[in-house]
Amino acid sequence: MYSTRPVKIAGMGYYVPPNVLTNFDLEKMVDTSDAWIQERTGIRERRLAGRGVTTSDLAKEAALACLKDADVSADQVDLIIVASASPDHLFPATACIVQHAIGARGAAAFDMEIGCTGFIYALATGAQFVASGMYKKVLVVGAECLSRLVDWSDRTTCCLFGDGAGAALLVEGEAGEGFLAFHLGADGSGGDLLSLPAGGAKMPASRETVDKGLHYIHMEGKAVFKFAVKIVDLAVTKVLEKCGRTPQDIGVLIPHQANLRIIESACARFGISKDRVMVNIDKYGNTSSASVPIAMCEAISEGRIKKGDLVVLVAFGAGLSYGSAAIIW
Ligand SMILES: CC(C)(COP(=O)(O)OP(=O)(O)OC[C@H]1O[C@@H](n2cnc3c(N)ncnc32)[C@H](O)[C@@H]1OP(=O)(O)O)[C@@H](O)C(=O)NCCC(=O)NCCS
Repeated sequence: MYSTRPVKIAGMGYYVPPNVLTNFDLEKMVDTSDAWIQERTGIRERRLAGRGVTTSDLAKEAALACLKDADVSADQVDLIIVASASPDHLFPATACIVQHAIGARGAAAFDMEIGCTGFIYALATGAQFVASGMYKKVLVVGAECLSRLVDWSDRTTCCLFGDGAGAALLVEGEAGEGFLAFHLGADGSGGDLLSLPAGGAKMPASRETVDKGLHYIHMEGKAVFKFAVKIVDLAVTKVLEKCGRTPQDIGVLIPHQANLRIIESACARFGISKDRVMVNIDKYGNTSSASVPIAMCEAISEGRIKKGDLVVLVAFGAGLSYGSAAIIW
């Protein structure tokens, strides 16, 4: 059933909640400083969903902005994929909640959970449905409320994450435009380095898990950092190889916004100057599977991505997982 139909992005949208939490606010909450956070991560502030606002609400706003950008109505959408490490519930799928919220009555809907790599995996999955001809319009959303999963007394993680959502609508394109290649991967041996230990089937929530804080994000920051530097290098190299391009061909690199030092290391490795990489970690922190689509939307609105540019997306995260995509815009 697989064919070679080209697949492109017909529109994009994002949403970040209005509440800003600055590093100076964090100084009042834990033993940290604006200087430490900026120097070690590049983050100055992040957005937090307000009381009662959740992942599906952010996803809905991003989805509606995306459909508006693509000039497509919700009832034309065939499939919704929501990538999230912080879904509203274990079930029902957040994608089903979004389907109802935006009025995409006829759309199939499912979630993907592969940590911060989620949006790239979801793009690759959604693109297969369009490439095969099974669906014509696939809405891919990355949405997170990680602020709900963070221990706000743990300075090693609470300064890193933020809330937000981004979305892309995938449709059939013309030859020579759209997705050229994807490269996806995982190394499950590193699963314990970044995890939410309790709340699933292995360790159901109990008084004990709550007392021990096992329902919060646990991360071995240094080990994840080392993995990230190595894997961004591999993921970008592989996706360029698959489409016969070189780092010099990259018009704009859109990396997952987890740590400015990881991004700078990739730029140094590939000889990518500041004007060819999108960085907005200073404003939003790590929004996990929302970070790549939010960065891409801002790159587009700032005029940094032009028609015909080779755009490379790259992300990594819990799993451990990684993925990259090459697109002719
Ligand atoms: C988390 C991270 C920023 C920590 O930076 P680091 O340079 O590795 O710092 P370390 O963990 O070695 O900690 C250095 C010191 O700073 C302290 N520290 C940690 N967090 C701190 C904070 N928010 N404020 C002040 N000090 C802090 C540590 O306790 C440690 O103190 P010690 O030397 O007295 O033990 C970094 O490891 C990182 O970004 N890792 C990757 C995370 C990531 O990308 N995760 C998401 C994947 S999708």
